[in-house]
Amino acid sequence: MSLPQLKNDILLRSLLREPVPYTPVWLMRQAGRYLPEYRATRAEAGSFMGLAQNREYACEVTLQPLRRFDLDAAILFSDILTVPDAMGLGLGFYEGEGPRFASPIRTEADVDKLHVPDMAKLQYVFDAVELIRQELDGRVPLIGFAGSPWTIGCYMVEGQGSSDYRMIKSMLYARPDLLHRILKINAETTIEYLNQQIRSGAQAAMIFDSWGGVLADGLFQEFSLHYTKMVVDGLIREHDGRKVPVIVFTKGGGQWLETIAECGCDAMGLDWTVNLSQARQRIQDKVAFQGNLDPMTMFGGEEAIRREVRRVIDDYGVVGNGGHVFNFGHGISRFTDPDMVKVLVDEVHSYSAAMHK
Ligand code: CP3
Repeated sequence: MSLPQLKNDILLRSLLREPVPYTPVWLMRQAGRYLPEYRATRAEAGSFMGLAQNREYACEVTLQPLRRFDLDAAILFSDILTVPDAMGLGLGFYEGEGPRFASPIRTEADVDKLHVPDMAKLQYVFDAVELIRQELDGRVPLIGFAGSPWTIGCYMVEGQGSSDYRMIKSMLYARPDLLHRILKINAETTIEYLNQQIRSGAQAAMIFDSWGGVLADGLFQEFSLHYTKMVVDGLIREHDGRKVPVIVFTKGGGQWLETIAECGCDAMGLDWTVNLSQARQRIQDKVAFQGNLDPMTMFGGEEAIRREVRRVIDDYGVVGNGGHVFNFGHGISRFTDPDMVKVLVDEVHSYSAAMHK
């Protein structure tokens, strides 16, 4: 099957630090509950997994934000937790509670049973990637993604989100050998999973290390970054005659920028606590940056949004050589007004285009 030429490749070029006419922008969780059309499709599908496991629905909600806003990328509609679900942990999404696993991994016997799942269990994801690529018709690139081995591990051991990470940290301090076994399986699984997304048509890959920042210095390197690096090392980096850039996002990773920049990724996602100008100096432009507006800026009104967008772009500095992809520093809030997203996207494009001259 032949796919159309990419009409807007600014995201890919910026991630690879090649010249761009303006700063490209996409938003973490750009397909989601802040959009009324998403809520309608989700109601029709009946549940989150009903959406994610049906290629037509997954494709539809992936494209919804692109119909409203002039975004420079689409991101596959799925979730990082489909991977442990395929490992047999039994994922459920519960109203007002978020995701939960029926069978968390807590004991040595649980770990003994764990293995890299058959990728056929995740075929619905690869089918969605193929359909989205067709429907995008080359408009913008499609980003594939997965959770980092550590972040996936947090959900597998905790069984759900956590405020103190007591379960996984108990295992980390008492039985590090067990946790290392889990993380190795997660890394091997994630390599297969992301490579299959790339073969199916994903044009960039993002690894979400959402909970890397909860680890002590030293332990972050041992239990999170080491396994993220293993994944990055195993990924297909060129497909269909084009480079496939890899983005690593460690929320709360600001103090480890220099080491993360050395994991082999092309770009690093940054949360809003990091200053982009200082970050560039620290890593000497070794990789591109993606970020890093505080998603709560969206509640400050139009003037505040324009001002803070300019601050982020100014902090990165004048570039003719790409290297910056505008995004939030974490996912968009479900309470965001979609009209304000339009303000943001348009401001990123017009302000950065004027700066690039
Ligand atoms: O960015 C996108 O638009 C692509 C889709 C996407 C989703 N989840 C859809 C989703 C992506 C990239 C994710 C990643 C994800 N999922 C992460 C890493 C990024 C981050 O936010 O740190 C994590 C930790 C998860 C786990 C997860 N999934 C949680 C904690 C929740 C519930 C809380 C919440 O924010 O809603 C989900 C559910 C989920 N995943 C929703 C969406 C749109 C909302 C589900 C719904 O429709 O009810």
